[in-house]
Amino acid sequence: MSLEPYNIMSQTINISRVKESNIKSLDFNNIPLGTTFTDHMFICDFEEGRWVNPRIEPLHLIPTHPAAMALHYGQAIFEGMKATKDTDGTPMLFRPEKNAARLNFSADRMGMPAFPEDLFVEALKQLVALEQDWIPPFDGSALYLRPFIYADEPFIGMRAATHYKFIIIASPSGPFFSKPIKLLAETKYIRAAHGGTGEAKAAGNYAAAIRPTEIAKTKGYDQVLWLDAKEFHYIQEVGTMNIFFKIDGKFITPSLDGAILHGITRMSVIELLRDKGYEVTERPITIEEIVDASRKGTLEEAFGTGTAVAIAMIQEIGYKDTKIHVSDENPVSEMVLNTLNGIRSGKMEDHFGWMVRIEKELV
Ligand SMILES: Cc1ncc(COP(=O)(O)O)c(C=O)c1O
Repeated sequence: MSLEPYNIMSQTINISRVKESNIKSLDFNNIPLGTTFTDHMFICDFEEGRWVNPRIEPLHLIPTHPAAMALHYGQAIFEGMKATKDTDGTPMLFRPEKNAARLNFSADRMGMPAFPEDLFVEALKQLVALEQDWIPPFDGSALYLRPFIYADEPFIGMRAATHYKFIIIASPSGPFFSKPIKLLAETKYIRAAHGGTGEAKAAGNYAAAIRPTEIAKTKGYDQVLWLDAKEFHYIQEVGTMNIFFKIDGKFITPSLDGAILHGITRMSVIELLRDKGYEVTERPITIEEIVDASRKGTLEEAFGTGTAVAIAMIQEIGYKDTKIHVSDENPVSEMVLNTLNGIRSGKMEDHFGWMVRIEKELV
């Protein structure tokens, strides 16, 4: 292999197709969550300091050496995004360049190699073009895309791996009718501390959240509301969502302080609300401030933002012995949800220029 640097885009993505698609086994009216995968996957290897051999292959198991470093030292990062269809049936991606940039932000924090952002978008386009029949046709449904990188070098010892795999798998997801959720503000466990990995979409962040989330569920809550690691005072984010509050007609959301994931839905909702004339402030927010606003009757709405659900209305927040009742009516949150879904399904004009249309005949 040449050791000269080269532009990976000059390499074509080799495609080998399945002989027969598995799509016949899918009931679009009843898609099991997270367990159905499309026929193909994208793979690229990192070897000798560069990404090589980008390819789309039939979905298959990946042989794993028991000393693969991701299994031991946790060098594993991922992204989550969705493909939908425009009203004319053209597949579309929502702001894929933002996911490409965030993947590389995560890679940098975790000592992993950056993946070429143009190849990231191209790989998604080609995979989605090939799998477009798997995009569910209903409003609010989508083809969920999961790009990820992990260290597959077999090595026992603490250092950055020298071999990685970048893979994209795709899983159809049905319409997500999210009922208003209840959050438990966590006062024992933390998700992320300043200087830690909270800003990266690192697999280990999610591992650390599993046990506290299970405990919150046994208490009747849907998700954990994470507070800051030092004082358990400042609101960070929710499970797999960022959080917004509407108090006295104005929106606030925690500022990106180094411990919070830079949500792409969060960024889009800030633009959308401002475009609709709402004031949105990014600043530190204490949990006591929310308790106070609820007592005064100025807490009007609260919602989570994330790729999986777009917008999840928050009904109640448990904090120590207090239950903060938020609201049963969420007119602005519903407008935001309908606008996001409308833009994603091509039924509303995308005047922000967020959607990237994919040529149906790309492959
Ligand atoms: C911890 C966390 N926060 C926030 C989000 C929302 O990010 P996005 O809007 O990019 O999906 C996610 C989901 O990716 C997440 O896992």
